[in-house]
Amino acid sequence: MKKLITLITCAAMIMCLAGCGKTASGTAQAGVLVMATNAEFPPYEYHEGSAIVGIDAEIAAAIAEKMGCELQIEDIAFDAIIPEVTSGKADIGMAGMTVTEERMENVDFSTTYAIARQVVIVAEGSGITSLADLEGKTIGVQQGTTGDIYASEEFGDDHIERYAKGMEAVQALSQGKIDAVIIDNEPAKVFITENEGLIILDEAYADEEYAIAIKKGNTVLLDQINKALEELKADGTLDAIVAKYISAE
Ligand code: ARG
Repeated sequence: MKKLITLITCAAMIMCLAGCGKTASGTAQAGVLVMATNAEFPPYEYHEGSAIVGIDAEIAAAIAEKMGCELQIEDIAFDAIIPEVTSGKADIGMAGMTVTEERMENVDFSTTYAIARQVVIVAEGSGITSLADLEGKTIGVQQGTTGDIYASEEFGDDHIERYAKGMEAVQALSQGKIDAVIIDNEPAKVFITENEGLIILDEAYADEEYAIAIKKGNTVLLDQINKALEELKADGTLDAIVAKYISAE
């Protein structure tokens, strides 16, 4: 009997280790789901006092709860998130992260949980009214984001100013240091309410989808995350979290 209990405990432990992303490097802890993010991206992740809150933080907490894990959030530079996941220091990368072919070479992605757009913010009355007007202009982006990647490719490095935080790019725009900012639509909406005289162009720059990044080949964790996401979508939890942070238009 004792042997059987030990065996069961052992099996349960192994399941939990695998489930919470215990890696060979031993950096991820048993029973803990470590999420790497960049908490400069309202309403998905941002600081509220000493806490990190937002849509991603809440979805991750709900996933962790389903997995029986404790969620631990690490706030790092956006372009450090994928390396953190590939090295196994973090179990998941969740940061309003767009699924791209290039990123899929380095990480696996969960099913998508949000639809997003890259939009263009300009100063009111700037004369920039369409994407075509961006030619020859200086565009601010958050370093390493899809806004950075796409705009650098299209307009050339000389026309791109990279900032550590999206908000810094928007501030530079409101100070007249740059002509436009390319950034995700929901943070864009938040940032223009915090800086006067800015508008978002109707014409979107790119359509995207967000998903959770997981170490390549960690199918045990990937399956658990996808299963949890599916349940959260089905029972309305995901919609309720989104509705808490984004008012329907
Ligand atoms: N969706 C964009 C991307 O994946 C920007 C994400 C920025 N996220 C953040 N938490 N700063 O590149």
